[in-house]
Amino acid sequence: MTRLRVACVGTGFIAGEHLRALSAMADVQIVAVADTQLERAEQVAARYGSRAHGDGLTLLNTEELDAVWLCVPPFAHGALEAAAIARGLPFFVEKPLASDLSTAQSIADQLAGTGLTTAVGYHWRHLDVVQRAAELLARTPAQLVTGYWWDKTPRVPWWPQRAHSGGQVVEQTTHIFDLARHLAGDVAEVTAAERSAPAGPEDVPLAASSLLRFVSGAVGSISSARVLDGRHRVALHVVAESHVLEISEHGLTDHELRIGTGDGAEVVRSRQDPIAVEDREFLDVLLGITPRVRVPYQEALRTHTLACAADRSARDGTPVRLDAGAAGA
Ligand SMILES: NC(=O)c1ccc[n+]([C@@H]2O[C@H](COP(=O)([O-])OP(=O)(O)OC[C@H]3O[C@@H](n4cnc5c(N)ncnc54)[C@H](O)[C@@H]3O)[C@@H](O)[C@H]2O)c1
Repeated sequence: MTRLRVACVGTGFIAGEHLRALSAMADVQIVAVADTQLERAEQVAARYGSRAHGDGLTLLNTEELDAVWLCVPPFAHGALEAAAIARGLPFFVEKPLASDLSTAQSIADQLAGTGLTTAVGYHWRHLDVVQRAAELLARTPAQLVTGYWWDKTPRVPWWPQRAHSGGQVVEQTTHIFDLARHLAGDVAEVTAAERSAPAGPEDVPLAASSLLRFVSGAVGSISSARVLDGRHRVALHVVAESHVLEISEHGLTDHELRIGTGDGAEVVRSRQDPIAVEDREFLDVLLGITPRVRVPYQEALRTHTLACAADRSARDGTPVRLDAGAAGA
């Protein structure tokens, strides 16, 4: 059997999830990993019998590969994607696309016309319960959407600095913005406000709230808070005629869909591993088994544009209009 030669840049938490999924696939060989913390890369490389590099560009410039996973923090995007594109190497990149909008737009510009296969880690879209919700909403469209990311402050060192992570809205709540777009369509305008952090280096706002007007005419609000001791609610609720859909995440492999009607509620629990599903889909596209990935770079850019618009509106205090026809508005 021909094995696809893959590598991963970044060997932290989410890289671990992808590598675990990839290592269980018989037609995949993890040939190399890279991390700016070389020891970390070496430990991971030893687990998978692969080579370790102290930086991603060296890996990209020296390894023979069929695909690469880019699992670095938001501030580290740009040069890695440019190197992959220059080599014609398909890449899977974790959300968010970058800590800002212009870096992601520049990568999308470099990708334009190359035909390169890309995929982005908006894993909720791969869930069976999300598919069920999308089918229901295709018949009775969303009228009202409310989303939540109410949680603790993540412990990774780069997260509390806005310049490094992009902030909670861009880094975390982006999953909820993406799901809202997936289920209710594009957003025409966003107005947001934020609760600033106390003065100091950890400047990611303590909380934020945004009001959305969808192109369809539906309305919505999505809020973020990072001041709790643990995850309280990571969810999207959608009101459509005669029913309410509540989709929530309790862990990477623990999701729930609650369908409420006048007669009661049906609760569907999903134990699917969406990381393994999205990785397999990307590989199957490379193998010609599946026609397209669900979330290519250009589609993720539309979600990133929305999250960045919500972030900008909260900082500037003015509404931001989005061009529904083009990402990067
Ligand atoms: N899809 C999801 O649900 C999900 C979950 C967690 C994290 N993520 C995303 O994955 C990304 C990484 O998050 P994480 O939790 O794994 O962070 P992490 O801090 O655990 O790991 C990131 C690793 O990247 C390394 N790194 C930093 N800059 C680098 C560079 N230029 N080249 C090579 N390595 C570099 C760091 O040393 C670190 O080991 C973030 O964008 C995050 O939003 C997605």
